[in-house]
Amino acid sequence: MRIEIVKDYEAMSKRAAYIIASQIVIKPDCVLGLPTGSTPMGVYGELVKMYQEGIISFSQVTAINLDEYYGLDKDNEQSYNFFMREHLFKHVDIKEENIHVPDGKAVDVEAECRRYDNIIKKVGGIDLQLLGIGVNGHIGFNEPGEYFEPLTHLVELAEETIKANSRFFPSIEDVPTRAISIGIKGILGAKKILLMANGEKKAEAIYQMIKGKVTPQLPASVLQLHPDVIVLIDERAAALLRE
Ligand code: GLP
Repeated sequence: MRIEIVKDYEAMSKRAAYIIASQIVIKPDCVLGLPTGSTPMGVYGELVKMYQEGIISFSQVTAINLDEYYGLDKDNEQSYNFFMREHLFKHVDIKEENIHVPDGKAVDVEAECRRYDNIIKKVGGIDLQLLGIGVNGHIGFNEPGEYFEPLTHLVELAEETIKANSRFFPSIEDVPTRAISIGIKGILGAKKILLMANGEKKAEAIYQMIKGKVTPQLPASVLQLHPDVIVLIDERAAALLRE
């Protein structure tokens, strides 16, 4: 793991955008694995700016989103599909057919999960996987558990996650309790991984991810096994690493 500590959210977002942009320049038809949440909003803003300035194009890029709430339609404003369109896709020249988000309304969830894993296979795997991290150390929606779920699967969201994500919903009762998420094999299969975190709320998860043992109780710890991971964090998220 290569750890990069930057001053604040803005610096983190700019640096991450540069790393992603360089991936697009090196390989214009690359496959990007993308997360949602408040962490990547700044990065997406920076990428949109770089697109508008003519520095990068998404015309050949494929986007594979990590996860989606189960039960939400793609047009629902709380869905991750909607989030991605609002923050990135509708502002750049990515082709509709190259956008992939799990279908939260799938009737046959098992078939949807297999379809999603097949997409990852068909596009030749993920070149660069961008990740945030949950306060409980989840990545995508891979929640703490007894083992690492390898494949795309339906997840029961942890209490902590529902609570943390309720800030995006009118009330906690509105937060879906389940989600479809890419599994750990899907994430570790990426050639390169860039995990971002900011703020003191993430400091404990970051500390455990880097210094703790590899355990499914803290899913992000599995990234210790990957040969090419950049952990890009602000000073507050890095607070416990310095002690
Ligand atoms: C969500 C997403 C993750 C994200 C994490 C942190 O539940 N499924 O992909 O990394 O929680 O979110 P935030 O960036 O808003 O702190």
